[in-house]
Amino acid sequence: MRAVIFTGTGGPEVITVGERPDPIPKAGQVLVAVAFAGINPADVLQREGRYQVPAGSPVGIAGPEVAGTVLSIGPEVGRWKPGDRVFGLVNAGGLADRVIASSDHLAAVPPELDDRAAAAVPEAFITAHDALRKAGLKKGGRLVVTGANGGVGTAAVQLGAALGAYVLAGVRTAAVNGSVAELGAEVLTPSTLLERAIQLGGADAILELIGAAYIGADIEALAPNGRLVVVGVPTGADAAFSVHTLMARRASIIGTVLRSRTNLEKAATIEAFESVVVPLLAEGRVRPLIDSIFPHTDAVAAFGRLSQAGKFGKVLLSF
Ligand SMILES: NC(=O)c1ccc[n+]([C@@H]2O[C@H](COP(=O)([O-])OP(=O)(O)OC[C@H]3O[C@@H](n4cnc5c(N)ncnc54)[C@H](OP(=O)(O)O)[C@@H]3O)[C@@H](O)[C@H]2O)c1
Repeated sequence: MRAVIFTGTGGPEVITVGERPDPIPKAGQVLVAVAFAGINPADVLQREGRYQVPAGSPVGIAGPEVAGTVLSIGPEVGRWKPGDRVFGLVNAGGLADRVIASSDHLAAVPPELDDRAAAAVPEAFITAHDALRKAGLKKGGRLVVTGANGGVGTAAVQLGAALGAYVLAGVRTAAVNGSVAELGAEVLTPSTLLERAIQLGGADAILELIGAAYIGADIEALAPNGRLVVVGVPTGADAAFSVHTLMARRASIIGTVLRSRTNLEKAATIEAFESVVVPLLAEGRVRPLIDSIFPHTDAVAAFGRLSQAGKFGKVLLSF
């Protein structure tokens, strides 16, 4: 198989392209043939040696998600057969044209999505949907999404709007304001986002994708019984906040990570995604957003784009 392989830990200099023997699916696993693969901020952390992937993951091959066509199946796989189109989560190894996945961590790709579109879905939409469930967001609720132009952010804005919430989206790069607004959000800068939420009566749910430094202000902007779900803290994990404000709001702070979940938890997360989000994708009520596609041989440039401000949606590699 062909793969993007990190030769060690460090910067872009450790990114290489190489060949490895095709993996063979074990019991409960399938081998997926991949044409397009999404890259993620966690891949950068893994490359820098700051992200511990679960034991048994392919060495040096990052990638927590997969989309493609089932090539072969191991023993005890009930649902899938060769030729089925699938997408879902893997522990690692997603940045390759052959990927092993647990059969119950996959959902069926609807025929309305081509391979590119399908590749832009799993990590972004599963994370966003799961976070909105944790936030208990309901129709008519007020949702704040920070980092709203990235992979998870664009999915969260669309899912919030599809649910009938009023969505406030934080975007720091004005060039993508119009694109995010078209997804169904009122777009604000990071410095005006929370003031606006307070002006409207407070946020019922906040998805924090940027950093722990914002958590104090997030809590101030929550409505009574509001929920703050912390999904990503790329700018830092240390928070200072007023517990008095948290108490006064009867608010909750909920942390979440997909990858460290047990296999059963992950299967349940994907089942919820398949029953709620996949129909919305099939009907076109939410859509996968692709910022850019790079040949896998140009993975250095793809990672460069991922780290640049002003993306709109996902960065993909093609194999
Ligand atoms: N908990 C989980 O299981 C889980 C799963 C998936 C992702 N995540 C995390 O969630 C976060 C978002 O993931 P993603 O895939 O959406 O990443 P992404 O596509 O790279 O998007 C990142 C978003 O954050 C914004 N951003 C980054 N640094 C910023 C800063 N200093 N100030 C303001 N905005 C900033 C970006 O805006 P610009 O375009 O202006 O840079 C963009 O909107 C990441 O931290 C990721 O690791 C967590």
